[in-house]
Amino acid sequence: MQKNILITGASGFIGSFLVEEAIRRGYRVFAGIRSSSSRKYLTDPAIHFLELDMSDTASMTQILTDAVNTHGAFDYVVHAAGITKSLHLSEYYEVNVASTERLVTVLQQEKLLREKFVFVSSLASYGPGTGRNPITALSTPNPITAYGRSKREAENLLYKQTDLPFLIINPTAVYGPRDKDFLFVLQTVQQKLELYVGSREQLLSFVHVMDLVKAIFLATESPLVQQNFLVSDLANYSTAEMNRIIKQQLGVSTFALTVPGWIAVTAAVMSEAVGNLRGKVPLLNRERLKEFRASNWAAACTELEQLGYQPDFDLEKGLADTISWYRTAGLLK
Ligand SMILES: NC(=O)c1ccc[n+]([C@@H]2O[C@H](COP(=O)([O-])OP(=O)(O)OC[C@H]3O[C@@H](n4cnc5c(N)ncnc54)[C@H](OP(=O)(O)O)[C@@H]3O)[C@@H](O)[C@H]2O)c1
Repeated sequence: MQKNILITGASGFIGSFLVEEAIRRGYRVFAGIRSSSSRKYLTDPAIHFLELDMSDTASMTQILTDAVNTHGAFDYVVHAAGITKSLHLSEYYEVNVASTERLVTVLQQEKLLREKFVFVSSLASYGPGTGRNPITALSTPNPITAYGRSKREAENLLYKQTDLPFLIINPTAVYGPRDKDFLFVLQTVQQKLELYVGSREQLLSFVHVMDLVKAIFLATESPLVQQNFLVSDLANYSTAEMNRIIKQQLGVSTFALTVPGWIAVTAAVMSEAVGNLRGKVPLLNRERLKEFRASNWAAACTELEQLGYQPDFDLEKGLADTISWYRTAGLLK
């Protein structure tokens, strides 16, 4: 029998790939979106759209119970809706914590979930590693940003739900086609500028969106519950190494510039002020800067061994794929 899967944040970068993979795997797919969400990457006629106002429990209850009454309970819910940047710190709590709590409450109270709730959290919920030691699923959490703290709070909320079968996915930095955040890094290098805000030896970990989607489905369909999965391409890179790969892929040579901390903070304050005037979250802000300056975002994803996960993309192959997509989309020369 065809299984039902609800994917929230379906209009987003990661969500749209989750929807495609779910369809490919033969699920009946319910795409949780907002009325304002773009459907640019959600064109498959098999998709059932659910317009969910996640700030409103009553309307969510109505829409989700209607869907379940017609098609049966959701075998799986993958909750990928969330915000990664905001002009207002309180919004991280409202979207990443309160909306998650409301969704779980509706699913539980109305008995709408059959098998598993999968929460797409972030490596930021752990905070950076200490010294040069990689972050593991068992590291003591010490998130350094409002975003990271909100994801950790949502995770804690799930761990309190003893009767909810759930899994938590903590992706490292996700990149790939359709992503806008990494584009800025590539455009800067293409303009022959190699910027360092923190150390050149800052440790980073990445995952191509297709590998993340693969790991999420392996975890979702496994019998495992009540645990965290950190997801990367199983390698770690220094910032200098990442830039070397980007330069090689773009075929450019660069001028390397280390931005002193006080200049970076001043620039972040100024770009926040401009962002506030425009009502748009700037790419550079003080919260983001905390992440840029932390010296260790290396991850050890040992739990993935239980799933037989092997990435298809290392950073070199993944960036080649991503750059090719940006070029075809006219976003990069
Ligand atoms: N990208 C990364 O590097 C990365 C790394 C680790 C974890 N994550 C996590 O992965 C998830 C997806 O991230 P992404 O990169 O795909 O981000 P994205 O492209 O910005 O997508 C976010 C999705 O969440 C939805 N959303 C935002 N605010 C909402 C609200 N108030 N109510 C309902 N839906 C809302 C968006 O809907 P609209 O389209 O209507 O805005 C969109 O579908 C997030 O939870 C994020 O924390 C991402």
